[in-house]
Amino acid sequence: MTDFVLGIETSCDDTAIALVDRDGNVAGAKTVAQFDIHAEFGGVYPELASRAHLEAILPTVDSVLGATGVLLADIKAIGVTRGPGLIGSLLVGLSTVQALSFAWGKPAIGINHLRGHLRSVDLEEKRLTYPALVLLVSGGHTLLAYSKDKWSFELLGTTRDDSVGESYDKVARMLGLGMPGGPAVDICAKQGNPAIRFPKPMIKEGYEFSFSGLKSSVARHLENNPDFDVNDVSASFVASCLAVLSTKVTRAIKEYKPASFAVVGGVAASPQVRQAMQDIATKEGVCLCLPPLKWATDNAAMIALATWDYLDQDIQTGLEPKPNLRL
Ligand code: KG4
Ligand code: ZN
Repeated sequence: MTDFVLGIETSCDDTAIALVDRDGNVAGAKTVAQFDIHAEFGGVYPELASRAHLEAILPTVDSVLGATGVLLADIKAIGVTRGPGLIGSLLVGLSTVQALSFAWGKPAIGINHLRGHLRSVDLEEKRLTYPALVLLVSGGHTLLAYSKDKWSFELLGTTRDDSVGESYDKVARMLGLGMPGGPAVDICAKQGNPAIRFPKPMIKEGYEFSFSGLKSSVARHLENNPDFDVNDVSASFVASCLAVLSTKVTRAIKEYKPASFAVVGGVAASPQVRQAMQDIATKEGVCLCLPPLKWATDNAAMIALATWDYLDQDIQTGLEPKPNLRL
């Protein structure tokens, strides 16, 4: 008999449920996205997000259990994101899990969403070897960390303002590309010429990041060039982002000499980012670990896999929401 963890993720605007076994195999998963609800606001509207989670969460749990045929007896525990994220959205997941845990008599474990992203590289297949360098590029976060093992993370640098994903989304909005912005910018960039010289913020300095100046520079360019070409602006913006990410990752590989390096988070779904990171891995002779495409953006499978780590070590965590939780 295989044991499963039921993972639940509601930190932002995706209601995600998954059943994952100890080896990271995903028996079933479903995500209900909220793009249509937030599109007219140009960003996630927190009250509407929590209301939509509330409507979607139990039917989605039922749907995943029904589709997989996994029995309650085979569920060892429930893992749920406790932060970082929107307080109202987190509360829907956490209170639902409290109720399910009580009703089903299963342990419940609160999980750090960032840790979930880090574990996403080991879904479906074990990939990560330690010591590892980890680049997390999502809508909420941009950070570089050095990890000696599953439990230790030395933060090398984070962003001083916008995250990479946030700047993709803001540039998409300026270009009228709608939501979700990142994939749209990525597709346009592939067809454009990266000839516009946008800044590459903090490229010469250590491991800290800053992306708001780049975003402002794109805004100024659009104001001054009303006949701009969407593809060329996207390509030039992406080229600046990739130059910064690639330079810092290469610097860290040379300094820390990791056995592998992982790139996780929503922006790791970008084929251009994946290719740029693969080029570095080949050049530096380091193994690159990427999450399977469908597990790069927010999902519950990564939360379930992170939950197994806590179960295996018999570590308890709380279920109170932590909107500002750090790595
Ligand atoms: O990890 P994620 O799903 O949510 C957070 O934890 O923030 O990341 C979402 C971010 C968004 O900014 C989205 O635009 C970006 O990831 N993203 C992409 C792509 N797919 C998602 N950015 C560039 N290219 C993509 N294909
Ligand atoms: Zn995320």
